[in-house]
Amino acid sequence: MEDVVISLGGSLVNPGGIDENFLQGFSEMINSLIDKYRFVIVVGGGKLARDYIEIARKRGESEYNLDLIGIMATRINALLVKSYIKNARYAQDLKEITNGNVVMGGTVPGHTTDAVSLLAAELLGVKRVINATTVDGVYDKDPKVNKDARLIKDIRYADLLGMFYLNSSGAGPNQVLDFLSIKIAERSGIEIMVINGRDIDNFKKAIEGDDFRGTRVCGP
Ligand SMILES: Nc1ncnc2c1ncn2[C@@H]1O[C@H](COP(=O)(O)OP(=O)(O)OP(=O)(O)O)[C@@H](O)[C@H]1O
Ligand SMILES: [Mg+2]
Repeated sequence: MEDVVISLGGSLVNPGGIDENFLQGFSEMINSLIDKYRFVIVVGGGKLARDYIEIARKRGESEYNLDLIGIMATRINALLVKSYIKNARYAQDLKEITNGNVVMGGTVPGHTTDAVSLLAAELLGVKRVINATTVDGVYDKDPKVNKDARLIKDIRYADLLGMFYLNSSGAGPNQVLDFLSIKIAERSGIEIMVINGRDIDNFKKAIEGDDFRGTRVCGP
């Protein structure tokens, strides 16, 4: 059975309150494919993480401690997502993901759940990761701020690194992929498929390897 690694944006699970409607649609789609693929789903922190981090940062907490707060939020989200997926198990550490359907959050301070998903793919020898978020893919600039932002269909690791590396530190940044994730993808030749997770039909297409709307991040 093929392993499928998904980085599920916390912004889908908790955009400012739990999106039960999304969780229902997403899990129905995953559960319909569960006899065909084995899923490793890494869940992000969403608004829950950002709210806590924002206040704690104002209190002067270290970036390390802010990451610890973020990781706790991702784990709460992961435990919730796990409750929707058939026969899935919650994992805390990448060492625990080698069999069964697994849902997990972040692991250690210093990197995002996107990076955890790339490490999971490396560990399992999987050559693609589906990165589901709340925009349609990678744009030439932030589409939530710039009305004229253009969706990029294919981009090389090096070009995306060039776009983002100036802007990748601090707990809970709002950007589509972080520096470390792209570097891990690059060193192992893992394709990142960035999609809008709210379009469940399109999400399924990406999993099944069909043509999808979104961005492919890969090598030359
Ligand atoms: N060039 C860009 N292309 C696409 N999105 C961008 C870009 N620059 C910034 N963004 C922002 O990145 C956001 C997606 O990342 P964000 O980290 O907020 O969500 P997520 O990864 O889905 O959730 P979480 O980080 O909570 O797991 C989008 O909402 C968009 O506003
Ligand atoms: Mg994110």
